[in-house]
Formats: sequence, C-alpha cells, structure tokens
Amino acid sequence: MMYRNIFDTHAHYDDERFNEDRTELLSSLFRGSVSGIINCGCDLKSSLKTVELTEKHSLVYGAVGVHPHEAEKATAEDLKQIKELYKNDKIVAVGEIGLDYFYDFSPRERQIEIFREQIITANELGLPVIIHDRDAHEDTMNILKELKPKGVVHCFSGSAEMAKEILKLGLYIGIGGAVTFKNARKPVEVVEILPLDRLLLETDAPYMTPVPFRGKRCDSSHIAYTAEKIAEIKGIGVQELINKATENTKTLFNI
Ligand code: NI
Repeated sequence: MMYRNIFDTHAHYDDERFNEDRTELLSSLFRGSVSGIINCGCDLKSSLKTVELTEKHSLVYGAVGVHPHEAEKATAEDLKQIKELYKNDKIVAVGEIGLDYFYDFSPRERQIEIFREQIITANELGLPVIIHDRDAHEDTMNILKELKPKGVVHCFSGSAEMAKEILKLGLYIGIGGAVTFKNARKPVEVVEILPLDRLLLETDAPYMTPVPFRGKRCDSSHIAYTAEKIAEIKGIGVQELINKATENTKTLFNI
C-alpha cells in the first residue's frame, strides 16, 4: 500500500506530542504519501505556531482562529492579533472555530459569540471556515444558515440527515479516522450519501487515529486507512478517492 497526493485538511502539528520529532516527521511525510497539510490553530499561541510551521515547511498551510474550548480565555486583543495573521498568504482559512457542548469548557453564550464573530471575519475576507461541532448540531446549523460561510464541517459527527442540510448550504464535509472504527454507523451512513465533490480527508492528528493504529499517535500518513474505508464504501479506487479529495481541498482553500 503506497499512495501519493494525500492532503490532510486538519491536523495539529503544534501539539506537544510532536515536540520530539516534529521537523523530521513532517519532512518524512512529504517525502512519502503526503502532498499537503492544513495545520489548525485553536488560540493565539497555537495560531502563531501554525504560522511558524507554514514558514518552515512549504507544503504546510494554516488555519488560525479560536476553538470553542478556548473561547472563554480568548481576549479581544487575541482576536485582533489573529486577524492580522490572515494577511499571510499561507493562512488559507479561519479555524478551527465552532461549538462544543460535549465538554462545555467555555460558557455556551461565549462560544456562540466568538463563533459568530469569526465567521463574520471570514466572510469579510472571503476565507473559508473550518468548523468544529460536537453535540451542538442545532445551534451550529442555525448559525451556518444565517451567516452562510463557505467552508468545511470537520470530523463530522452528525447524522446523514444533518449532512444533507450542510450540503445544501454548499459546505464540504471532513471525514477522518472515526469512519474506520468498529462501531462506526453514522460516519458510514454519511459517507454513503456524500457526493465525491464535497468530501475532504483529514486526521485531527495527533488524535482520532484510524484502525489499525487506534490509540497510537496519529499523523497524516494514516489517512491511507481512512481513504481505503471510504473508497470501499463508495466502490471506487483508493488513489482515485484521494485525488478527488485533494482536488476538492485545493478548490475550497484556493491552494
Ligand atoms: Ni481539531
């Protein structure tokens, strides 16, 4: 199994779990199957690290923004500084942003406020958004319907019915390692109805490692296993699926 042209649309290589081998790992991924990565910031600090990664590695692009977990801690000054980073050509999206009512690490009103504010910024700048939605489907959908950003719902965890609503809004859907899990029912149903021109591949590295490496640290090369599963569901070739997802990525993020 050796694929090429894998584009990981969602990873966190600024995470401390990559401190020991970050540069070597990224270099080896780009010598192998991976042709691009979007690193996603979650607050000002990780957004600045994301910019550093894009400067160091020509095939690393970035999304910067405030994650719902960090919504409470983020100050107006943080948001102002993050806004400056969108001037950088290699910052291709606003993210990751959204709502998380599973952990509720920040009060919901603040999550909603900062989510809306960042979508409005993205719309003003003509940038796509990378959306995190965990157990907050109703509020997420209402905000997306109202503000109509372009972008992707990452690590999509909703039903096939909700996926159809998202597709109607012109958004893409990110599929990660969860589709390979033994108990995966909803992600498989979502892939079944998902048109190939709206599908993006992602890891959420170092998390969400696909089977057979579940529990280990995830990196972008593991997308091969996610792609194999999706290709099997769709009844198409794995490399063909990877190429289509990479083409979608370049279209959405204007790369
Ligand atoms: Ni993430």
